[in-house]
Amino acid sequence: MTSARIDSLDAFRAAYPAYDETAALDALRASEYVRLDAEGHVYLDYTGGGLYAESQLRAHLELLRTHIFGNPHSCNPTAQAATVLCEGARAEVLRYFHANPQEYTAIFTLNASGALKLVGEAFPFAVGGRYLLTVDNHNSVNGIREFARARGAEVTYLPINADDLRLDPQAVAAQLDRLEPGATGLFAYPAQSNFSGVQHDLRLIATAQASGWAVLLDAAAFVPTNRLDLSIWRPDFVSISFYKMFGYPTGIGVLLARRESLARLRRPWFAGGTITIASAQGGGHFLAAGETGFEDGTISYLGLPAVTIGLRHLEAIGIEQIHRRVTLLAGWLLGELAELRHGNGRPLVMIYGPRDTDRRGGTLAMNFYDAAGERIDFRAVEQRASEAQISLRSGCFCNPGVGEVINGLSGEEMTAYFHTFGPISFDAFINRLAGRATGAVRVSLGIASTFADAQRFLAFARTLLS
Ligand SMILES: Cc1ncc(COP(=O)(O)O)c(C=O)c1O
Repeated sequence: MTSARIDSLDAFRAAYPAYDETAALDALRASEYVRLDAEGHVYLDYTGGGLYAESQLRAHLELLRTHIFGNPHSCNPTAQAATVLCEGARAEVLRYFHANPQEYTAIFTLNASGALKLVGEAFPFAVGGRYLLTVDNHNSVNGIREFARARGAEVTYLPINADDLRLDPQAVAAQLDRLEPGATGLFAYPAQSNFSGVQHDLRLIATAQASGWAVLLDAAAFVPTNRLDLSIWRPDFVSISFYKMFGYPTGIGVLLARRESLARLRRPWFAGGTITIASAQGGGHFLAAGETGFEDGTISYLGLPAVTIGLRHLEAIGIEQIHRRVTLLAGWLLGELAELRHGNGRPLVMIYGPRDTDRRGGTLAMNFYDAAGERIDFRAVEQRASEAQISLRSGCFCNPGVGEVINGLSGEEMTAYFHTFGPISFDAFINRLAGRATGAVRVSLGIASTFADAQRFLAFARTLLS
């Protein structure tokens, strides 16, 4: 059945019977995320940030209201109570990702960027070593190249295909083969693109490791709607932000690290809480073993119990159920958007990346075109969506590589911009590109998404038709 005929929930359920298997999510939306419908709001920025359930807040506040927690660096009873909860959260994180505690540890950070920086600043990059990363990456992964360059390591980007925005397996294999024996190499890529929703092959982890690379998997955009099972996939490092998974709390992320890989990192500094002993006058310090040596200062000991609560919330729903719903809605939207035509037959929407749900998540990047075939400024689309109470995102989503590829901007051209203009704002930059803006409109689905949300977005898209 083509999706063009679907204009009601009943029609959708008839065409996609598997949607009914996710009906529990509608009940959840009505009870836990009721504020969305109370405000008539359509939230489509789950890749930006997830939404929390009301029960998460209640459980967290009740815990804080009925206990006394002190700084876990102390040894008093309130500190011990906090330590129990923090270590409980650590154990819960490992359990959720099926990570064997003998093999992996969980290091709490401020966010995924904090996790990435921990690896970047401490990885033993050296002359003869390499940093290999995909063009499709968040800037917090791109930024690691500055540490690599500063220490003389070679930095190489793996290209993505312009049509499906996937990696070319042969180019990947050729690069992975090219690490000198004994040299240190870090290979970094996203499990799911925060720009296009493309899911890159997790089998690359083992392939790269077999060639001597340490692998940094950026899972920030993947884990809110997909199972990451670390008993199957064993990257050396994984970066995650919890607010993307379950909305609350902000300000806590995690670096999941294999213990043997962590032991190879060399921290450039120490901080309160990371040492067994440091001397002011003696000039020495000993870094604490394991995760302790990587958690700078006081961790968010009041926030961490909310991570345990959030993970249990996801487990109670089942990430597979969320995945199934998001995939169904994304598939329908992809089909519907592709069919929208102006009166003269010209398409309204250009979708970037895969047009079906094969190896992709519920993050859809697109641009809109008028009847003359001119691109409508993505900032104007976001503005109009905001007026219609729809929260989506526009720009390059901190992932400039995909933006450059979809607009056919070459490395030489981009280098020239940096030499010509000096520091300019993103808006000034896209204005100068005159029609070849590196950005797009991004719609992303998540835990509380419903058919009605997708339908409202389509209705909005139709208002751009002429
Ligand atoms: C794939 C990916 N990596 C890293 C990040 C950075 O996350 P944070 O801003 O929470 O550090 C994001 C945020 O959007 C992301 O989507």
